[in-house]
Amino acid sequence: MIEKPYTVRFPQHGDERGWLVVIEGNKDIPFDIKRIFYIYGSDSAVVRGQHANRRSEFILINVCGTCKVRVTDSVSYDEVITLDQPHEGIYIPRMVWKDMFAFSEDSILLCLASEAYDSEEYIRSYDKYSELMRQNNEH
Ligand code: TYD
Repeated sequence: MIEKPYTVRFPQHGDERGWLVVIEGNKDIPFDIKRIFYIYGSDSAVVRGQHANRRSEFILINVCGTCKVRVTDSVSYDEVITLDQPHEGIYIPRMVWKDMFAFSEDSILLCLASEAYDSEEYIRSYDKYSELMRQNNEH
């Protein structure tokens, strides 16, 4: 079963000193965190991502600035989500095609992943991805 992405809103712990957001694996998000990386310094015209992952699940949070994420399964949905709050993210299950774009100059996109990096699990051809999804839908 291939799940659909959804937005997640994390509780903000705030007092007179400011805000704090906590994310615990398998508690606030549906997987154990094995890897984190973050993306910054991307021009507003750049499109990143452009891949699907066979195994990795992700949470993407724009902790500073704004960006947009396009998610599609190439069959039943094709959506653009704006990430512009440090306490909001998007959950991206395995086998979802994603593009990240429209980065503000100050954008820092934090990515939490369920798997260690393995370039072999990336599908970087949209044609190949949509063909796989078409076959999957026929079964
Ligand atoms: P890439 O997957 O192209 O980034 P994006 O998700 O924005 O499309 O990754 C950029 C480079 O960083 C590429 O050379 C692979 C490397 N990389 C790692 O070594 N480990 C990682 O966990 C990730 C996400 C990327």
